[in-house]
Amino acid sequence: MESSGEWQCVRRGKRAARRGKADQSRNPTAAAPEPADRERDTRRITEAVNELRCEDFWLEWRDLLSGCLVGSGCSSSKENTVGEWQLECVCYGLGNFSSCVSARYQLAMLLLLFEALQIPVGQCSMYDPVFTVTECEILKELGFTVLTENEEGKRAVCHPTFFYLMHCGKALYNNLLWSNWSPQVLPNVIVIGNSFLGIQERMLQREFERDYNFLSHIVNVCEETSLPCSQRFMDVFNDSALIQFPADKLQKLPESIWTDLTEPQYQHCHDLEIIQRGSRHLQDDKCA
Ligand SMILES: C[S@@+](CC[C@H](N)C(=O)[O-])C[C@H]1O[C@@H](n2cnc3c(N)ncnc32)[C@H](O)[C@@H]1O
Repeated sequence: MESSGEWQCVRRGKRAARRGKADQSRNPTAAAPEPADRERDTRRITEAVNELRCEDFWLEWRDLLSGCLVGSGCSSSKENTVGEWQLECVCYGLGNFSSCVSARYQLAMLLLLFEALQIPVGQCSMYDPVFTVTECEILKELGFTVLTENEEGKRAVCHPTFFYLMHCGKALYNNLLWSNWSPQVLPNVIVIGNSFLGIQERMLQREFERDYNFLSHIVNVCEETSLPCSQRFMDVFNDSALIQFPADKLQKLPESIWTDLTEPQYQHCHDLEIIQRGSRHLQDDKCA
């Protein structure tokens, strides 16, 4: 991807192309991706990036994220170093961007942010259990690392990591918090996703505390900055926020909050919005 001017698709090398074939062979019933489909979908992503670029609100996203990365010790310079660490990015729950316009614009926003902040796409891992083989191929062509394991959002970090979770299930956020549940580690977690306050507002407090206890413990302590969007993109980016966990605020929480590290199980959730490890999918054309 170029750092200025029109956004372009990164071509894969021969080794990556061979890897793509190997991925397909994991699911022999999957239809082989048609090059014409891939080209059409890639063109649509480019168009979405260029459309979004004409909006003003993405610039506010860029500035807010940039300020946050600098504030947490990350450089938004070419090297993107955090001390001696590279900034890592993880995107869960993007959805089927080939068929779903919202997911496509969300992908376009991520690409725009990476381009503007000079974050190499290769530093970003992607996972959604519904990705098709074709979508995985496209993401790899764009330079992303496509994960093959369902982490259920349980990614433990040890240095600043940017998570992009657009309109994702509450359990994904709760699992992410559980995996990094300490006042020393949480400040390394930077999220663009659903407003935690919005999630709380839409739930009965009793159920929020019972089912999503890590979210409920942190909702009033984390720092949320609402991310704007234009009327046209309301469905795509509504309720989005940049969420951080400032160390000084976490230190003030009672010690007892940090001691219950029981892994969330969600036995009481009738409508668990995430796909858990080991669940089976009905469609054949799946990447993972
Ligand atoms: C409500 S949809 C949002 C899709 C898209 N971001 C949008 O706004 O239209 C939630 C997404 O989370 C994905 N998801 C469910 N379980 C997941 C998991 N364990 N890891 C990553 N993504 C998951 C779903 O497949 C789905 O695409």
